[in-house]
Amino acid sequence: MKKIFSGIQPSGVIHLGNYLGAIKQWVELQSQVDEAIFCVVDLHAITVPQDPEALKRNILSVAALYLAAGINPEKSIIFVQSTRPEHAELAWILNTVTKMGELSRMTQFKDKSQKETVESASVGLFDYPVLMAADILLYNTTAVPVGDDQKQHVELARDLAMRFNSKYGDTFVVPEPLIRKESARIMGLDDPTKKMSKSAGSSLSYLAVLDDAETISNKIKRAVTDSGNEIKAGSDKPAITNLLNIFSEVTDRSVVEIEADFEGKNYGDFKNSLSEAVVSYLSPIQKKYDEIINDETGLKKILADGSRRAGEIASGTLVNVKEKIGLGL
Ligand code: AMP
Ligand code: TRP
Repeated sequence: MKKIFSGIQPSGVIHLGNYLGAIKQWVELQSQVDEAIFCVVDLHAITVPQDPEALKRNILSVAALYLAAGINPEKSIIFVQSTRPEHAELAWILNTVTKMGELSRMTQFKDKSQKETVESASVGLFDYPVLMAADILLYNTTAVPVGDDQKQHVELARDLAMRFNSKYGDTFVVPEPLIRKESARIMGLDDPTKKMSKSAGSSLSYLAVLDDAETISNKIKRAVTDSGNEIKAGSDKPAITNLLNIFSEVTDRSVVEIEADFEGKNYGDFKNSLSEAVVSYLSPIQKKYDEIINDETGLKKILADGSRRAGEIASGTLVNVKEKIGLGL
């Protein structure tokens, strides 16, 4: 049985890195597996400060984007993490088999806590990977489709599953990370040495999935390029390589084909075509998104149904876990 689980935090805009690194492959995978679960991980989002009103809006927005991208709620389960108490409960239990040392080595914590110093980072931010392990392990997940930056967290989930199994007997399925090579890491438009990210200093770093045509074209015009003027990928040309990767992903054509099209042409021509390609890729998604977000009742119904279906699986796992440990009456 193949079972996949993944999630995105409702903590602001969803950018093309999230879309190409995660959501795009979810849509492809949902028809190839026995069970697919996609979660809006709001309990992860609150590990850094969030405005309550904005958080509420962002939760629905991320769910609407899953649907607009083509996640089918009849086949897959879409739900909001905080509507299921099992996640926090299993995270607590897993905390007791997690070592301080292994969490200290998580690079995302190191990056995020550096911005505010370890002294003032929340304990929740430190514990974030354990909650993620709980998300994954509750659903007997076999594979976790994510971008490259989440590989270390999925490996922790594997370690915790194996540790728990050897301590208390076979309980959890040990999950594998599932990372696509091509779009594993979409880089920032303003700095191709850093991944595209919503928390980068400038909005010029990312293309948001909901950006309008003019914004997309302006951001691509201002994207940094490499020295020289050839439209060719290579390790000495990180900026143009990233733009070619994006072009390839949104048109489903190979980088080599695109390079051939632009032989003898300049960066300006290339950037214009790239803008057009991104806009025509995103506009049908944006149209669907508008329809879904404007039917809040319909959207909430899908999420309530997803939560109920998720609960049927999660509660079974938790009963088994507690029994193994000797908790309760
Ligand atoms: P987050 O925004 O951190 O909740 O990330 C949601 C998903 O998007 C995860 O699977 C990440 O690995 C993926 N992701 C985030 N940024 C990028 C990027 N620049 N390139 C590829 N995937 C990304
Ligand atoms: N930590 C992930 C991210 O920032 C989001 C996430 C939370 C997740 N729980 C998960 C991803 C479980 C996959 C599986 O991208």
